[in-house]
Amino acid sequence: MGRRIVLCISGGIAAYKSLYLIRLFKGAGYDVKVAATANALQFVTPLTIETLSQNRLYCDMFDLNRTLDVEHIALAEWGDAVVVAPATANIIGKYANGIANDAVSTLLLATKRPVFVAPAMNTSMFEDSSVQRNIATLKEKGCLILSPEDGFLACGTTGKGRMQEPEAIFRAVDEHLSQGNEWSGKRVMVTAGPTYEQIDPVRFIGNNSSGLMGFCLAEEAARKGADVTLVAGPTTLTAKHSKIKRIDVRSAQEMYEQCISLAGSQDIMIMAAAVADFTPANPADEKIKKGESGLTLELTKTKDILATIGKGKRDGQTLVGFALETQNEVENAKKKLHAKNADFIVLNSLRTKGAGFQTKTNQVTIFGKDGSEFSSELMDKSEIAALILNTIHAY
Ligand code: CTP
Repeated sequence: MGRRIVLCISGGIAAYKSLYLIRLFKGAGYDVKVAATANALQFVTPLTIETLSQNRLYCDMFDLNRTLDVEHIALAEWGDAVVVAPATANIIGKYANGIANDAVSTLLLATKRPVFVAPAMNTSMFEDSSVQRNIATLKEKGCLILSPEDGFLACGTTGKGRMQEPEAIFRAVDEHLSQGNEWSGKRVMVTAGPTYEQIDPVRFIGNNSSGLMGFCLAEEAARKGADVTLVAGPTTLTAKHSKIKRIDVRSAQEMYEQCISLAGSQDIMIMAAAVADFTPANPADEKIKKGESGLTLELTKTKDILATIGKGKRDGQTLVGFALETQNEVENAKKKLHAKNADFIVLNSLRTKGAGFQTKTNQVTIFGKDGSEFSSELMDKSEIAALILNTIHAY
């Protein structure tokens, strides 16, 4: 069964943003039913709400055309969560004080589901002691308050009171509902992206890694409820889940230092970064001039992070490495599994079209130290990430 949201819209100008919120939920596969106050319908129309949600709007408690269910009770239990956006001072006050005299306020008092409240009002109203008291009461009741932001307000002033952006509201609700708990309390470290090895202040040696595979692994581990530390080389990607702590590094040496200092406290370590194997022996302090002849760089080996962690691994820790090969793939991957004392090696082959660097998809074979071997189809990297984590989980 798909997930379901009941969106309550009350009468503030931010109601227009709630239309986009409906789209975000629908786009992510949620079924959405909307309840709106009479004042909300001064700002947005029933036709727009019903067209976007593809469900009947609930706004009139005494509609003779309704089904025989007591609608506010049925709707209160229908959703996986109730979202009040925008939440005006009026609806917050009614909900906090048990007043139920319209479709939205009756539904709120009747629901036992998690309720997200996104206040939106003028700064002075928001700061008023009775509004603050009502918000505190809602927090005590267990509501999740999505605090308003500072910004330009419809009354022409700037200050606190602007409703959180629809994307932020969607993310908070979606994360809350997607939160698994299989990995709750587990600490997971993921490395991602390339490393850049400086030749001089302007030039570096890098590689084609986008970081996407590592970021997908971090998101997936966070969705399972783990506390994730993502050690990321240079990349333009952003980590979205609030349970991901991101540490940015640039060189293989920086990544090594961060990983080694974290390794002792982790339960699961997944080394998806494409770490440089070599770094310039003597990076120049000044830009190297072109000169007359070519340039020969002396490179030294970087420290192998995976192998170092493998050596110091304790019982109960799970270590996952990646192998990117262009020849003798299976043989080399199995060698790495043992040489680096990993529990799993995930093999990417650059020969598979649509897999490896700079693609949204990947195809992998996962080798376990118990001799197990599993080859995936070509799938989105987020699906590959789920597959890798489920393999670890089953182990
Ligand atoms: N790795 C690492 N530290 C390095 C180099 C690689 O932790 N300095 C990790 C990668 O994150 C990956 C695994 O080692 O998980 C395998 O990387 P790969 O480059 O395929 O293997 P190497 O051991 O470097 O061997 P080779 O390049 O000779 O195949």
